[in-house]
Order: sequence, then structure tokens, then C-alpha cells
Amino acid sequence: MPEPTAGPDQPFVEALAARTANAATTDPAGRIAELRRQIAYHSARYHQDDAPEIADSEYDALVRELARLEAAHLELASATSPTATVGAPPSPAFAPVQHAVRMLSLDNVFSVEELTAWGARLERLLAADREAASKVAFVCEPKIDGLAMSLRYEHGVLVRAATRGDGATGEDVTANVRTIGVIPRQLTLPVDELPEVFEVRGEVYLPLAAFEELNRRQLEAGLRPFANPRNSAAGSLRQKDPGVTASRPLAFFAYQVGEVRGGPLTDPDGPLAHQSGALEELARAGFPVNPKIRREEDLDGVARYCAEALAHRHDLDYEIDGVVVKLDDVALQRRLGATSHAPRWAVAYKFPPEERTTLLNQILVSIGRTGRATPFAALEPVVVAGSTVGLASLHNEDQVALKDLREGDTVIVRKAGDVIPEVVGPVLAARPRDAAPWRFPATCPGCGGPLVRLEGESDTFCINVDCPAQQLQRIAHFAARSAMDIEGLGEMRAGQLIGAGLIHDVADLYGLDLEALAALEGFGEVSARNLLAGINASRERGMTRLLVALSIRHVGPTIAAALAAALADLDALAAASEEQLSTVDQVGGTIAASVVAFFSSERNRQVIEKLRTAGVAFGSDRYQPPSAEDAPPLPLAGRAVVVTGTLEGFTREEAQAAILERGGKSPGSVSAKTFAVVVGAEPGAAKLSKAAQLGIPILDEAAFGHLLETGELD
Ligand code: IVH
Repeated sequence: MPEPTAGPDQPFVEALAARTANAATTDPAGRIAELRRQIAYHSARYHQDDAPEIADSEYDALVRELARLEAAHLELASATSPTATVGAPPSPAFAPVQHAVRMLSLDNVFSVEELTAWGARLERLLAADREAASKVAFVCEPKIDGLAMSLRYEHGVLVRAATRGDGATGEDVTANVRTIGVIPRQLTLPVDELPEVFEVRGEVYLPLAAFEELNRRQLEAGLRPFANPRNSAAGSLRQKDPGVTASRPLAFFAYQVGEVRGGPLTDPDGPLAHQSGALEELARAGFPVNPKIRREEDLDGVARYCAEALAHRHDLDYEIDGVVVKLDDVALQRRLGATSHAPRWAVAYKFPPEERTTLLNQILVSIGRTGRATPFAALEPVVVAGSTVGLASLHNEDQVALKDLREGDTVIVRKAGDVIPEVVGPVLAARPRDAAPWRFPATCPGCGGPLVRLEGESDTFCINVDCPAQQLQRIAHFAARSAMDIEGLGEMRAGQLIGAGLIHDVADLYGLDLEALAALEGFGEVSARNLLAGINASRERGMTRLLVALSIRHVGPTIAAALAAALADLDALAAASEEQLSTVDQVGGTIAASVVAFFSSERNRQVIEKLRTAGVAFGSDRYQPPSAEDAPPLPLAGRAVVVTGTLEGFTREEAQAAILERGGKSPGSVSAKTFAVVVGAEPGAAKLSKAAQLGIPILDEAAFGHLLETGELD
């Protein structure tokens, strides 16, 4: 049986429980009371405020610990315990709605062993009835991380929409739900099949692309970004003004039928006798039903489904946090019944978490090669989604201010799939009393010079071109594979060369001699010779790579290629005016101004003269004078090829450079103009789904190699 791996994260949940176990053995009643208090508090933050303070996985760990303690001390059980109730009381801001059929929660399992144990118990409960045991099949559904909703249709017309609330009473959000386009106002069943009452349960969610767009808009408007799609969906729906809900592109998946009264669907042997049949009816009635849902004959099939769902969770354009496994046969469901908290016939297999809380020890600033000062978080290292995160970029001053991050805060850290780790926000409740708002430092940590933020810009810069921190980054970047590709010269060695006083700028690299190099610690003659050979070879890389290597602000591989195609050599570029440059394809005013500013700096001009003297080729490797009609066209001329995920034979920069060298472009996102999408390991979900949606060819690494060689797709 294939095992959905619990992942290296799982021990964390156990550890969290273990940390508190001592307290529990000496005073179980006290610990139970404390856990109930904490869970009630965090449940209210999650359900009522749509602003949780701890990661879902940490909440789950508290509930698990409580459930274990209650099982070991039955005398301490309580009907009001969070393990025996659902959700949180509805908010008085909305009219209450009594649910005709209670909306329950689900019990969780966190590993395939627990899932199998759940299934075995269920088979045991049904074993008394031989006929029943033979009917045990399951329906596996992605567990959408959104907001549960009950929709009531009378004679086919939507009359009421309510949140789950505490399971018995929800909140009336009818006006808001009416703004969700994919939720039918009227059932699409034939009139003679319409039930008097038809209650549909499902999940309202915000697609990832919409979530990202919403947060972009929040930031632009100077508002705090939402922590995750679930909170933004819940926040969007629980609005007093339906206009706000309408402005958010919420979506919906139906997954359950509640009360059904009147009409042929009440036939006990009809389609609603099975969950799989109910889902088909929901689709027929006009509801979106998740296409990934699959019926599985046995627990081996269920385990396989869970493994697949976990492996592909990031291929979807919505968040899932697990798989819901339901018994297919509704008669058997009834026989098993439910506790006050959850049905016995369904369970949620929860994926290993991608969010964690940890301590934000310090906010520091790093200086990049263009002088940009980027704040970053030095975190107490924490394992998130399989890797240890200790540092995370905080991007710029405004981001830190909007998230109100302070040194000493407990913060939520998120790392989804191959996505770069992100500090989502602080846990305000855990903030130390003396935590002060963070202030951007006034001086550069590299050179002590002033840090400057220009009007209307979000970035802050060290403006001293001689700043050693900048120099180090510039030299390391100059040598990088996507730039001059100097083998054996990384950040560490660049630091060593600067430290020894052998180089001050990139041009000094070409004046290094063997003796001085070989005398450096850790070098020796062989590596010194190799480095010199690498430096020597880099003289002929051509104008495109040289432009990338020079660290001109806003000039990356794409713009460098565009400039090199339009101008014959570096001197022509240095002499060009802003107006001239603005006429170059893909070059706008900001880029043109940045190029002109670069070449008008005395210091930069000196470096360029030194490069010329050192024999570095300035001529364009791409320039085609307008008359050269019969020059052979480049295989990817004018074609946009997007790369996503990790390739084996190329770094991201190398793949981009290979595309650009052949006349192509390599934009960061997929659009209708994209020629092909190259997919490596752990690709971006948004890019993949966009490509699929637009019918753009998707290439693996081998097909990419073929494309580079021939310009052909296969
Ligand atoms: S069935 C009686 N199916 O998970 C069964 N729930 O932790 C109750 N959820 O409140 C729910 N996807 O918000 C069900 N395919 C799915 C689901 C799903 C997401 C959510 C729902 C529910 C919560 C329980």
C-alpha cells in the first residue's frame, strides 16, 4: 500500500503535545481546563474574527492533546468541551439561522496508519452485518480550505444561505452569497423533479490567483494583507455590505446534501442513497462539484488517493489541507451515526502543515548589488514543509510596517511547496510588552553611509557606489552563471579577494595574477590557475551577458537581450539618450532612465574603461543591423517561453539565458502570447493551470532541449 508520507513535519506536532505532557500527568484536570480555554480562544479568533493567531497545525495539536487526555480521564469529559462541539457561536452581527440538519465538523487523522485504523474500526462496527460489510466503498474528496456553507432551496429557488456557526445555528449571509456567480439562484433540475426543500452544503473559497490579486490591492491601498485564502474568503463573506463580497471573486464547491423534502429525490433507493450519486445530482442541479473527487472500493485505494492528493496539492488553483474520506452508502452512514462533534462515517486526512509559528529574533537589512537595502527576518529556525527556515525576506519597509512585525514577536511562517518562505504576520497575543515598532536603519550596515528612500518608491538604497557590501554582491553577480559565468568565483571567494585588497571593482578581476592568488588561504596553484582561466574566458561572453553582469538597476536578462539586439555595442548604448532607449522593444522610461544614469556615473565609466583596457568584448552578440535581411533567424525569435519548477540540467538563470540567446523571451508569467511552458520538478501551480486553461504546449526538460536546438515543439 503506498503511504502518503507524513513528512518530516509530523514529529513537530507530536513534540508540541509531548512538551505539555508533563503538566498533564501531574494535573490532568488543570491541563484539560487550560487546553479548553486555549482552544476556545483560538477557535473564536478563527471562526469569529477570521484572523487566527496560531497555525492550523498547532490548533490541531491542541485538540489532539485534549482528546487524548479526555479519553484517558473519562470522568473529566464534558458536553461543552471543544472535542464535543462544533465551530464557534454565530456572531450577533448576523441574523441566526437554525440548520434543519446539523452541520458537523470532522475528526482528523494525520497519517495513513491512523486512516487505516479509522477504516478498520468502521468495518468492525459494520461487521455484524455481512451484507453491509460488502458494501463498504469510499468517496475521496479534496478538503477545500474555505468556509462551510449551507444553501437552502425551496421549490428550486435559493432562499437562504448560512454559515456553519456552532453546527446548530449559523449566520444568515444570504445577500452576500447571492453575489457569488457560480452559486445558482435556481436549481437546474426539471420542474417535476424539484424538491420542496433542497439543502446543499459545500465550501466557499477564494481561488489562489484571486487571493494574490486581492492582497496586491490591499497592499496598494495601504491595508493589511490577508494571512491566507481561507481567512480572506471568510472575511469576504462575513461582510455587512454585500457590495464588498461582490468585489471578491469567491467560488464554491458543493459536497453534501442536507435536508431534502418532497419530489423524486427523496426515493430511498434513488441517487441520494449514495454520496457518489448525491454528487452527480448536485452537478446536475447546477453546482460546481470538484472534478478530483473519486470513489474508491477499499482502504488501499483511499490511501493511494491520499498520496496522490498530497503530491499534487500545489497543482490546484485553490488551497486544500487534506482529503475528506466518506462512506459511500448513505444507509450505512445512518447506521453509524455521529457524535455531537462529527460523523463516524467520514474522516479528514490532514496533510503535513505548511505553516508554523516561530520567534522573530531580529530584523536585519541586507545590501544588494544595486545598493538596495532589503529587510529580512532572522528567525528561530523552524521546519516548515520539509525544510528548515531561518531567514526570510521581508521585501521592503512598507511590508514590515503593514504586517507590523517587531523583533521578539512570535510570527507565522509559511512555505508552500517550492515557494520561498514568507513571514505571514505576527501573533499579536504573544507580543512581548516591550516590543517596539521596527524602524528602518538610517545607515548602511556595510559602509555606514546613509540609506535613502526616494519619494514614491518602496525601496531604500545605500547610495555609496564604493560600499564594500555592494561591491561584494556586484562582483559575485558579475561572475554568476547567468552573467559572465566565471567558474569558481562565488560570494565567498569574492569576499576573500576584496578582503585581501586584490580587487576593488569587477574590472580588477582581469588584472589578478597567479602568484597573488595562489598565496591566498585555501587556493593553491591549481585552483588559482583554474580561476584565472575562467576569468580569461569570460572576456568573450558578449554584450548581453556583460550588460546583465554590470548590475544596472532594472536590467535583467530580458532587457539586456533587448538592448543588445537594438545597439551594436556597449559604446553605442552608453551614448544613447533616454528617448532613443525608450524606443527599444520592452524598454520603458524607468529602464531608459536607469541605463542613462548608470553610464553617466563617473565611477561606472571608469570601470567600463578598465574593462575595455582588459580586453573584454563590448560588441553585441545579438545586434542585427536593420538591412541584414538574409541573416539566419534565431530559432526562438520573438517567442515567449516560460520556465517553472526546477530543471535538472539548468538553473533558472541558465534556462532563461538559453532562451534569450536564441532570440526568445522568458517572462515570469503565462499569458495567451506564451509559446510554450517548460516544466521542471515542483512547478508553480498558477502557471501550470493557466497554461492548461489557455491550451499552451507544456514541455518537459527533454522537449525543452529539442526546442532550444531546433525551435520546434517536437
Ligand atoms: S463534509 C458531515 N466535505 O471541512 C460532514 N467537508 O473539518 C461535514 N470541508 O466544516 C463536512 N471540504 O468546512 C466535507 N469535501 C468536503 C470538504 C469539507 C472541506 C470542510 C468543511 C467542514 C470542515 C470539517
